[in-house]
Amino acid sequence: MSDSVPETNRSAEPERAVNQTEEPARRAAPPRTDADAILSLDGVSLHYGSLKAVDEVTFDVQRGARHALIGPNGAGKSTLFSVIGGAQKATAGRIRFAGEDVTEHNESSRARAGLVRTFQHSSLFLGMTVVDNVALAVEGVHGTPWRFFPLPGSDRRIRTKSMEHLEAVGLADRAQELCGNLSHGERRQLEVGLVLACDPTMVLFDEPAAGMSAAETHRFMDLIETLPAEMTVLIVEHDLDLVFRLAQSVSVLAAGRLIAHGTPAEVRENEAVKVAYLGESDGVEPLFFTGGHDVA
Ligand SMILES: Nc1ncnc2c1ncn2[C@@H]1O[C@H](COP(=O)(O)OP(=O)(O)O)[C@@H](O)[C@H]1O
Ligand SMILES: [Mg+2]
Repeated sequence: MSDSVPETNRSAEPERAVNQTEEPARRAAPPRTDADAILSLDGVSLHYGSLKAVDEVTFDVQRGARHALIGPNGAGKSTLFSVIGGAQKATAGRIRFAGEDVTEHNESSRARAGLVRTFQHSSLFLGMTVVDNVALAVEGVHGTPWRFFPLPGSDRRIRTKSMEHLEAVGLADRAQELCGNLSHGERRQLEVGLVLACDPTMVLFDEPAAGMSAAETHRFMDLIETLPAEMTVLIVEHDLDLVFRLAQSVSVLAAGRLIAHGTPAEVRENEAVKVAYLGESDGVEPLFFTGGHDVA
C-alpha cells in the first residue's frame, strides 16, 4: 500500500489562522497517563522555527475509544495528526502506540503496526471499478506473494474479502461502478473501505465530513459508529455537534497547546475552551448545541 498524501486545503473552516503572537492559552494540567492507552503522547511538539504549531502536547487515547481532537482553525490539529501518523517527525516528545515507542518510526512502519490515516482522494484509481480499488488494497496488505506467485483461489479470496469491506462501508451495490462515477460522499466511504483492508488497530480521520452534504455527513458518521468496537478512532472534526454525538473523549488544542481533555460534557463546560472558540465564525454557540444536524 502506498503512503497516503497529507491533507491539503480540504478544510471547510474559514481561512483565518489563530494569531500565534497572542497571549498563549492557559495550558491544561497533563492528564494522567494510563497503561491501557493504545496511543500516548508525551510532550509532543512540532515547531516550524519560532512557530509552535504543536507545543508539548500530552494525552492518551484509550483502546477502542472514539476520541475527538478539536480546536479553532490553525490550532495545530492537522499538524498533530501528521506527527501521530508519522508523515512528519516531532521536534520534541515521545509517541507510544500499542505499547511500543514509535517516535522514530516512519508512516509506513506505523501503518504496518496498525496505525492508519485515512486514504485521500488522490489514492483512489478513478478509472478502475470500486471493487478493484479495494482488491488492490487487500492485495497490498497481504503482500506480493499472491500477486507474483498466485495460490489457487487467491483471486477469489481477495474478491470475497474486498466485497466484505464494501458491504461494511455500504458500497456493495456500487462494486462494479467506476470509481470516478462515485459522489464525493461515496468516495469518502470507499476511503474507509481501503482503511478496513489494512486491518487497522487505530484509524485517524482528519475532517472526514469536509465538503459533504448534510445527508452524506450523517451516513458517514453512521458508518464510523459501525466500525468494529475494538478499532480505536481518532477524529478531527469542525462540526462540534457531530463530535459530541460520536466521541466519548475529547482533546482540545488552541495555538498548538492542549487546553482541555475530557468527556464531551466536561469539555463543553470548560472555560478555556469557551474562550478559545470565541471569535470563531460560528461563535461560542456550537459548544452548547445539542439539537440535530439538518438532513436533506
Ligand atoms: N508546513 C508548514 N510550515 C509552516 N507552518 C505550518 C505548516 N503547516 C502548518 N503550519 C502552521 O501551523 C499552524 C497549525 O496548522 P494546522 O495544523 O493546519 O491547524 P488546524 O488543522 O488546527 O487548522 C498554523 O499556524 C499553520 O499556519
Ligand atoms: Mg486542519
